[in-house]
This record gives sequence, C-alpha cells and structure tokens, in this order.
Amino acid sequence: MSAPQHDPAIETSGLVKVFGESRAVDGIDLSVPAGTVFGVLGPNGAGKTTTVKMLATLLRPDGGEARVFGHDVAREADAVRSRVSLTGQYASVDEDLTGTENLYLLARLLGHRKPGAYARASELLEAFGLTEAAGRQVKNYSGGMRRRIDIAASILNTPDLLFLDEPTTGLDPRSRNQVWDIVRAIVAQGTTVMLTTQYLDEADQLASRIAVIDQGKVIAEGTKGELKASVGAGTVHLRLRDEAERETARSILAHTLDAHVQLEADPLALTARVEGDAGVDDASGAEQASRALAELASAGIIVDTFALGQPSLDEVFLALTDQPPGGSTTLDTSTDTSTEEIAS
Ligand SMILES: Nc1ncnc2c1ncn2[C@@H]1O[C@H](COP(=O)(O)OP(=O)(O)O)[C@@H](O)[C@H]1O
Ligand SMILES: [Mg+2]
Repeated sequence: MSAPQHDPAIETSGLVKVFGESRAVDGIDLSVPAGTVFGVLGPNGAGKTTTVKMLATLLRPDGGEARVFGHDVAREADAVRSRVSLTGQYASVDEDLTGTENLYLLARLLGHRKPGAYARASELLEAFGLTEAAGRQVKNYSGGMRRRIDIAASILNTPDLLFLDEPTTGLDPRSRNQVWDIVRAIVAQGTTVMLTTQYLDEADQLASRIAVIDQGKVIAEGTKGELKASVGAGTVHLRLRDEAERETARSILAHTLDAHVQLEADPLALTARVEGDAGVDDASGAEQASRALAELASAGIIVDTFALGQPSLDEVFLALTDQPPGGSTTLDTSTDTSTEEIAS
C-alpha cells in the first residue's frame, strides 16, 4: 500500500485531446507533487487550458491517462470533483450581483447554512482586500478586483487542488502582486496549485516546478533552477555614447561574459546573453553584468544606458527549441516584460 500523503496530486501519462484535425494536447506526461505550486508555462494556444479542463473533469481526454489524488479523471470524475476547484478566464461570478451577493450565493450552493455563508463571504472579501467593494456590482470592479473575486469564489470551500488558469493575464503590476500574495497564502494553507501562465517571471515567482508546453507537448520540465540553467540568467542590453567604441565593447563583453554578443541595428547598441551558474539564483546574472560594466569603464568606454532583463518567454523558447513559441519563424523581441533599467 502506498502512503496517500506522498502520492502526487496530479499524474498524467500520454494525455491527449483532439479538436477536429488538431491535437490541442499531444501526449502530456506530468507529475505534480502535493502541497506545491506547479507552473505550466506556454504561449497562447499551447494547450494549457485544455490540459487544465481535462484534469478538472470538464473535458474528457481522447487518449492517455490522468489521475488527481489517485483518482482517474474519466472513470472517477466525482471523486476528482470533490477535491478540486478551478479559476479561469470565465469564472462563475455574476456581473450584476455585488461581491457579497456572489460569494454568499455560491457558499449557499456549496451547502453552507445562512450564517456560515455570510461569515465565509465576509472573511474572504476581507482577506482579498474587497471589503470596501463588497456592496458594489462586480461589473463595476477593476480587472484586478475582478480576478480576486474570481479566486475567492473558487476557494469558498478550501480545495485540495486549485487550478488557476492565467490568473494575472492583462493585470497591471500592482494587481499582479496582489494575486501572487493570494496564491502564496493559499499554498501556505496546504492547497496544491496548478498555475498556468504566459509569463516566465510569474512562474519563477510562484512555482517550485515548471513545465514548459508548446503545441500540446511538454518541451521542458524541472525545478526553476534547472529551467534557468538551461535558458541562462538573462540578457544585458547596452547603449554606448560613441559608436566607434562598439567593436572594442563587443570584445570586452564577449570576454567577460563568455557569451555571444549581438550588434543591434541601432549602431550604439549591443546585447549579450548572461548564462549564470546552474543552481545559483539571479545574483549571478547581476554580478556578471556589473563585472562587465566595470571592465568597460576601465577601458574608458562610456555606457549611456544599461539594462539587465530576465529571459523573455521568447528567449526561453529559443533556448529550449531553437524556435520561437508556436514554431513560427518570426520573433517579436518587444515582449520582454521584465527588463529593469539599472543606470543611465
Ligand atoms: N473547444 C475547442 N474547439 C476547437 N479547438 C479548440 C477548442 N479549445 C481549444 N482549441 C484549440 O486547441 C489549442 C489549445 O488551446 P488552449 O488549450 O486554449 O491553449 P492555451 O490555454 O494554452 O492558450 C488551440 O489551438 C485552440 O485553438
Ligand atoms: Mg488558456
């Protein structure tokens, strides 16, 4: 007999979903340890929502197997449903009702008695910073408030496994941070979370393990450290004062960073990938970048702007597959959401 508390929360093998001619999910193998946040990272159309829907028993798999807490999602759907909850882009919150009314009614539907339902609704509104908005119709909420009430609605009964499907897509940075804090609090209470995202930094902030998926397939899976080691610590962007110094700057950078240095179309600009050391976190990227800056300074080269960016999703895909997401041939480099301006 196996000890249930050590079983993975989710285990899939060769999971498949076909829509017409297209294999939206094309043989996915995953193992998600209980009590952790598992990140599923991939571009639009990768198959994230389809995977989540199969695991939450909303879609029937066309092939392979999936177990949630040991229960088969197809044959034991009721047992799975009693343990999971799903927050997606289309949650069950009614726009015309207030925050309180939504949570109260959902709590009643879940079997809470009247006083208990009110208590749970106000407790969650408070915890999610929505007390002031509690009496307002949800259609008047901001994007961030809307996302928070969606999550609140999905944890009225604390689930053992919560699916968060792109919980921060389209949110401003402050609202994203609020949602991240909520996710951390949910996990601290023992819930396992499967979080899908298009943002590498979000997976990095929240997840202990990450699966990168593209075109219905897992193209990389591992801890954050393993994933970062395979894609590098980030990219250094430099803009010089004097274009005549670009060649010298290139060779200094190539030497100190031990990296390929790219000359940009802008005659003053250079870009270099910082590899970073496997297992060591962000510090190593920043350290290497500052060493390179010091070398440039001692060679008398003036740097006008300097930025160290985390690898973008595009860069992750390039590193893992030699192709941008979706296998298309054009690469939009403007999607790096995590570039920090450090000096000028
Ligand atoms: N109900 C559906 N009918 C037909 N095609 C679908 C359906 N749902 C998803 N797809 C297709 O399956 C692929 C994966 O979609 P999805 O799982 O929603 O990706 P993601 O959530 O990663 O953006 C996409 O090509 C999408 O167009
Ligand atoms: Mg989706």
